[in-house]
Amino acid sequence: MKNLFPEDKNLTPVEVNQSEYLINGELRTWKGDTHPVLSPICTNIDGEIKQKQIGYYPLLTKEEALNALESAVNAYDHGRGEWPLMSVSERIGHIKMFLNKMREKRDEVIKILMWEIGKSLNDSAKEFDRTVDYILDTIEALKNLDRVSSRFTIENGIAAQIRRSPLGVTLCMGPYNYPLNETFTTLIPALIMGNTVVFKPAKFGALLHRPLLEAFRDSFPKGVINTIYGRGREVVTPIMESGKINVLAFIGTSTAANNIKKSHPYPNRLRSVLGLEAKNAAIVLPDSDIESTVKECVAGSLSYNGQRCTALKMLFVHTDIIDTFIEKFTAQVDNLKAGMPWDESVNITPLPDMNTLEYMQDLVMDANEKGASVINRRGAETAGTLFFPAVIYPAKPDMRIYNEEQFGPVVPIIPFTNIDDPIEYIINSEYGQQVSLFGNDPDNLAHLIDPLVNQVCRVNINSQCQRGPDTFPFTGRKNSAEGTLSVSDALRVFSIRTLVAGKTTEQNKSILTDITKENRSKFLSTDFIF
Ligand code: G3H
Repeated sequence: MKNLFPEDKNLTPVEVNQSEYLINGELRTWKGDTHPVLSPICTNIDGEIKQKQIGYYPLLTKEEALNALESAVNAYDHGRGEWPLMSVSERIGHIKMFLNKMREKRDEVIKILMWEIGKSLNDSAKEFDRTVDYILDTIEALKNLDRVSSRFTIENGIAAQIRRSPLGVTLCMGPYNYPLNETFTTLIPALIMGNTVVFKPAKFGALLHRPLLEAFRDSFPKGVINTIYGRGREVVTPIMESGKINVLAFIGTSTAANNIKKSHPYPNRLRSVLGLEAKNAAIVLPDSDIESTVKECVAGSLSYNGQRCTALKMLFVHTDIIDTFIEKFTAQVDNLKAGMPWDESVNITPLPDMNTLEYMQDLVMDANEKGASVINRRGAETAGTLFFPAVIYPAKPDMRIYNEEQFGPVVPIIPFTNIDDPIEYIINSEYGQQVSLFGNDPDNLAHLIDPLVNQVCRVNINSQCQRGPDTFPFTGRKNSAEGTLSVSDALRVFSIRTLVAGKTTEQNKSILTDITKENRSKFLSTDFIF
């Protein structure tokens, strides 16, 4: 591989030395141990290629974690705090204030995203902008929800106003691959519905939140949002063991999610919203349009180096077209541009660390030993943390790549003649997020769609798997998810239906009229939010 290191480009690395953490409306300064953050991007200093250190963040202890929890518990105050008692329009006002402050930090956050997780400039900018849009859409969705709930229902002589109320204290933990977007798809709905939050960023992808801490501090009442950093066992376990967390919003692996959930003493009091692993398959049928199928499969398996839970992680291709598919697929993969996140039209960027790269190499080696080859010319070339995508053929059930979620640039292909083979694979998989079907015969596709919608939660037709648009439901079966997220579903997930009801006696009618007319209650209100 060519020398692709940043000295060539004279690009200044970011430096974020973070000692601050947000508790109870204060940015406190940490004087203890810190976690050095190494960029995925290597630098070439006097011939030595090393991951560049771009800063550090605090390694807090149990004590600060419990302080953060206490602050969120106090701000909620059993539903009597300022935030949970606020009207919907007042809460929207605070979220808008945050959004304006967040927008001012766009360039800074995008630059840190590139350096901290190696995401391309284009994708980092998209992640920021998609998050801003998500917040705006959430505000609109909440207005709609509130408008529907602002009227009384009368049934069997009982009048009721039915709304959604917050659940309490939320522990919010985001992933490294979409550290801003996916975190905010739970954090913002949790906040806007009136919950208070303890937020812990992922191990990779913490620094990019630093420019937003002042915005959090200045936009919300104290204690509504608190941030903690450190090792899960040190800071997350004690919070969960307290039994004071009402909602766990977690995006990561099912093993970690299960461990976190298990430390809660009252599982019945914990609502979980989980986005977990996936091993989405593509099934390429003999009558598929080869050009567009290859294009979708390349983007589906290798956008952001395949580091997406929705990535295509196993390609089943019918034997009738396997030769043509392989020829075109490997050619397109070899044409991808590997380089630094800021390089124009770059596709493949550095992996988060050397361990990830070694894991890719292990998967390839294991497949080689069991009879498969890397069939693309540039497959598995490396330079520092860069790993050029390896297309593995033919993948087989005894290989690690068959079951393990690679979450990186290794693309296994399996030939099939009997459609039962890919279907059995999906049935027996530990995961159940999405599938992509490529074909042209409506009857054939319909026969596949009907059983597959009971195996996964989204069947994509002649299109790669993906989460968006964000108004669509995003969820999964088995080890892939718990709960459903979308702009409107998230508002439901972080709230519970609550009603005020009374028999329609003359006395009650006059009380209800008086309360609503005189604006005596935030909940019991017929106000219409424009
Ligand atoms: O990592 C999983 C993400 O939710 C995928 O989102 O399909 O928009 O890339 P995406």
